Amino acid sequence: MTLGIALLALSCCESASDKPVYLDEKKPLELRVEDALSRMTLEEKVKVLHAQSKFSSAGVPRLGIPDLWCTDGPHGIRPEVLWDKWRQAGWTNDSCVAFPALTCLAATWSEEMSALYGKSIGEEARYREKDVLLGPGVNIYRTPLNGRNFEYMGEDPCLASVMVVPYIQEVQKNGVAVCVKHYALNNQESLRHEYDAVVDDRTLNEIYLPAFKAAVQQGGAWSIMGSYNLYKGQHVCHNQYLLNDILKGEWGFDGAVISDWGGCHDTDEAITNGLDLEFGTWTDGLTMGATNGYDAYHLAHAYLERLRDGRASEEVLNDKVRRVLRLNFRTAMRSDKPYGSLCSPEHYEAARRIGGEGIVLLKNEGGLLPVKADAKKILVVGENAIKMMTVGGGSSSLKVQREVSPLDGIRAAAPAGVQVVYERGYVGDVSGSYNGVVTGQDLSESRSSAQLIADACSQAADADVVIFVGGLNKAAHQDCEDSDRYGLELPYGQDAVIKALAAVNPSLAVVIVSGNAVAMPWVEDVNAIVEAWYGGSEAGNAIADVLFGKVNPSGKLPFTFPIRLEDNGAHALGAYDPKATEAHYSEGIFVGYRWAQKHGIKPLFAFGHGLSYTAFEYSNPKAKRSVMRADGTLKMSVTVTNTGELAGKEVVQLYIKDVEASLERPEMELKAFRKIALEPGESKVVEFVVTPDMLKFYDPAKGDWVLEPGRFVACIGASSEDIRHRIGFEVK
Ligand code: BGC
Repeated sequence: MTLGIALLALSCCESASDKPVYLDEKKPLELRVEDALSRMTLEEKVKVLHAQSKFSSAGVPRLGIPDLWCTDGPHGIRPEVLWDKWRQAGWTNDSCVAFPALTCLAATWSEEMSALYGKSIGEEARYREKDVLLGPGVNIYRTPLNGRNFEYMGEDPCLASVMVVPYIQEVQKNGVAVCVKHYALNNQESLRHEYDAVVDDRTLNEIYLPAFKAAVQQGGAWSIMGSYNLYKGQHVCHNQYLLNDILKGEWGFDGAVISDWGGCHDTDEAITNGLDLEFGTWTDGLTMGATNGYDAYHLAHAYLERLRDGRASEEVLNDKVRRVLRLNFRTAMRSDKPYGSLCSPEHYEAARRIGGEGIVLLKNEGGLLPVKADAKKILVVGENAIKMMTVGGGSSSLKVQREVSPLDGIRAAAPAGVQVVYERGYVGDVSGSYNGVVTGQDLSESRSSAQLIADACSQAADADVVIFVGGLNKAAHQDCEDSDRYGLELPYGQDAVIKALAAVNPSLAVVIVSGNAVAMPWVEDVNAIVEAWYGGSEAGNAIADVLFGKVNPSGKLPFTFPIRLEDNGAHALGAYDPKATEAHYSEGIFVGYRWAQKHGIKPLFAFGHGLSYTAFEYSNPKAKRSVMRADGTLKMSVTVTNTGELAGKEVVQLYIKDVEASLERPEMELKAFRKIALEPGESKVVEFVVTPDMLKFYDPAKGDWVLEPGRFVACIGASSEDIRHRIGFEVK
């Protein structure tokens, strides 16, 4: 052996301390990966590419490389299930804090809240010794019927892109990887394993991919989950275009692609089309006579056979193994990880703060809210005031240490001497279990609907304020995985209850608990409306904080509330069909407010809308210049003043309108936002820097983003329908 080779061998396989290189954390990651790879047998390489239990995949025991453990995600750490079954493992130390649903996080429009969320849930995952957190989700809100919208961050690619990044970074500081889901085009639950998303390149690039790209490139996500649906005729878990060409090619993703559970359907495609780690929902049913069902996975025996007889190349195999090793070294094998923490007071506080900042005050006529200090009797009506919402909804279902209901939150916050009375009003979903986790709540009710309404109305007559808490829940065909909603309407006859209450007492506030927009045929009949989302463990406290004014609401809608379903593009065009195996995204880039504005449709509540108990005035809009160079930037600013009597927070939104373009563009598009806090009377100058990227569109003919010189308008305002100032400028 020449000296050179000897030195190389030493640097590759051993460090000065005689530690093998792959175990030496001081060595560069890639060197360690190569070293570990070089020590693995073919069988060991294949072994790390598929599940060995419901939520774990094998390491390399001979080399001391540990197993990888995954957990749902995305709102809290899922309770333990049995090794091989979906049944509960029966642990007593796996209760968690449920954080608000991701729609609520998106509604905070606050990067600080996203970071706090990521830090907190990352610590919980770490304490529970998980390596991969299955979340966050950033599928775009295309239809209000999608049963999983509550797990995502709304309808706008800019908002979702900004909000996802801090979550990822903070989770991963714990030595826990995120697994961003569901990449890509999983925008409905109906036929989720069967539908092929037919979407044009421009729409794909402008609407459906940006948040994933931001997650990878800015967030630095260590893993990503392939979605169940198909695209271009291939399941996305093994999709040449989305995984190899875009994700790993264009975006340079160096992490692992993990299949959604049972999302892998074809061995050869899985091998060649970018899947790295296969997880499944079933262990039997996939049998090839193997005693261990996991050996029957596509990336298991079938892969090994192809490698042995030369049908599959070791080069492709090595790429997959490198990605899984990277994931392992970044998480399970990192020795300087923090220990994490579970159910800490800080995590409850975080859940409450995020909940409070995400709650959206939609309407507040006559200043009905916050509840007046002299109120003597508060009537609370509605099933969602008492129903636990952390159980149900599919894989995001949790086993919480505690959950504060809206009624309990209101009772705790009401000043001493105030009488808080509860009436059911309607009966919705009385079940209280998911996958063996039971709420233990008895929601049975024997009164008729008419009687329930009559009882609520008789209590409403002399109440100082009536708070109706309704909306959706986590049962099938509501906000729930694996099924979509049937319509936009509130279920269980809630509209009738609200109308009846409004007729008896005008001091009616409606609190909607949901992850989706709902129709509000009574919108003119009630004085206050609050969208409270699914708030998790601290839901009731966060709601009460807003209702009683301890928190001045500052949430803004992350998606449009249409008046009717047909006001949404996919539905207007009949392009959402729950029974069709091809989902044609015919509305193209005109998703959410882009559709409403193109057609001059007035939404019930607009994207970006949200009121405060104080008022903000926008003044003094300024741009540094009136011309921007195509390779330069342009600074602009606006002054925002709190003109009311309470401290509050405002989300200042910048939309860009392209006045003349060779392709049709939306009326305007969100490009940046800032959340600022202002004391009464205080003013702040909010600055934006317009960059060329903010002005570009994706040109399908060129297959690239282009910036066309010409006139643009910066629209600065408090919502997509409340633009306070317009600043024209020209790009040369
Ligand atoms: C869901 C994923 C989830 C996985 C594991 C699937 O059915 O689509 O989001 O992470 O199950 O529970």
